[in-house]
Amino acid sequence: MKNKRREFLTNVCPSVALAFMGVTMLEACSSGGDDSNVGNNGNSGGNTNNGYTVSGNTVVIDLSHSAFASLNNNGWMNFTAQGMLLLKIDASTYRAFTNSCPHQGVRTNWTYNSSQDKFKCGQHNNTYPTDCSSNGTSGDPLKCYDTSVSGGKLTVTT
Ligand code: FES
Repeated sequence: MKNKRREFLTNVCPSVALAFMGVTMLEACSSGGDDSNVGNNGNSGGNTNNGYTVSGNTVVIDLSHSAFASLNNNGWMNFTAQGMLLLKIDASTYRAFTNSCPHQGVRTNWTYNSSQDKFKCGQHNNTYPTDCSSNGTSGDPLKCYDTSVSGGKLTVTT
């Protein structure tokens, strides 16, 4: 019996072993390794259930996911969870920008004018070209991120 107990304790994860001995832990057992699918805030983590994953400074977006339907339907979206504006140029070309307005950093007051090809921050009505270099009306360009599309996935490197 003593040997079976020892064998059990050496083969289970520490949380289970401690629970067996009457100690509880909040941490779940895991085989370790990839934690890129945990959480969706800040610059690490991500969640495949939300249609994207984050690893370091790289965000990979599943373009067929319903969370990005407005990107495909309207041609742009404010991806607030990762602080970026996404713009669809065509089926294989997308652009990504910070959603922090160059004027005063407001992130949630954006619209896109397709006929002018400009984003507008409604906070003070400054507008920004989407060519990644031209200055907006506040005097600075909208910061652009590197993008690539492959296999229905949009990769943005911030
Ligand atoms: S903060 Fe965007 S225009 Fe002023």
